[in-house]
Amino acid sequence: MKRILDILKNRIKPKKIRVPAKVYYFRETESTNKEAKLATGVPDRSLFIAEEQTGGRGRLGRAWSSPAGCGIWASIYLKPQKESDISQLTLLAGLAVCRVIENSKIKWPNDVLLDDKKVCGVLCEAVMDGERVSRVIVGIGINVNTESFDDELSDKATSVYIETGKKVSRERLLNNVLKEFFDIYDEFIKGGFAGFRDEYKKKCATLFRDVIVIKNGENVRARAVDITENGELVVEINNTREIVNAGEVSVRGLLGYN
Ligand code: BTN
Repeated sequence: MKRILDILKNRIKPKKIRVPAKVYYFRETESTNKEAKLATGVPDRSLFIAEEQTGGRGRLGRAWSSPAGCGIWASIYLKPQKESDISQLTLLAGLAVCRVIENSKIKWPNDVLLDDKKVCGVLCEAVMDGERVSRVIVGIGINVNTESFDDELSDKATSVYIETGKKVSRERLLNNVLKEFFDIYDEFIKGGFAGFRDEYKKKCATLFRDVIVIKNGENVRARAVDITENGELVVEINNTREIVNAGEVSVRGLLGYN
């Protein structure tokens, strides 16, 4: 009962969320990405947000745990004016969150980590109109005030609360992330990913680590050595450099989650 009262009291108030367009708020939905993908007549730069997702989705077909009241489960709805590289937008959404969560790092391409555990994930999806990308949905999941994770997740997932011992206003955190994201997006539209490369590299926990590149079902051991100006990961495999694109592979660290 106390938990239900807490959830009601701490509910996100859509009026307090600052986005350039509209906020679509759901007390409960399957997935804000799904809502955004199916919606019609939505203005560019709107936000879909839920208190709870019953079928939250992650990258590579995984599920994303999204219980009520403790996280940010949000999807930004974009109508790109020109062809935008969705992999690069994914990296930049991670960068926006990393700018806001103190001491966080990015596991390439877009997981945000605290203490080497995942605090945020990003799932970007394109909606096509024939050959053209008509909309891009940038789904962002942040574990904010989650008190604990079940056994399966606890060695790889964390929350801002678990790491800092402090409960945080989700509205404030979300507003800060949105501000960073739209600042970044405006720059990205003008100049692409290249202007963010240095900052991204500084915040990237994957660089100079041994990683496993999972490509076409095969695990290959490699060392992460650089990020290109398009946001791809450069790895060394047996002294040969290879460029890895976020859409093609999954990268695992050899130590811990990272
Ligand atoms: C990942 O790391 O695998 C990506 C997780 C993305 C989760 C967010 S929560 C809001 C939006 N709706 C979803 O169903 N997924 C994204």
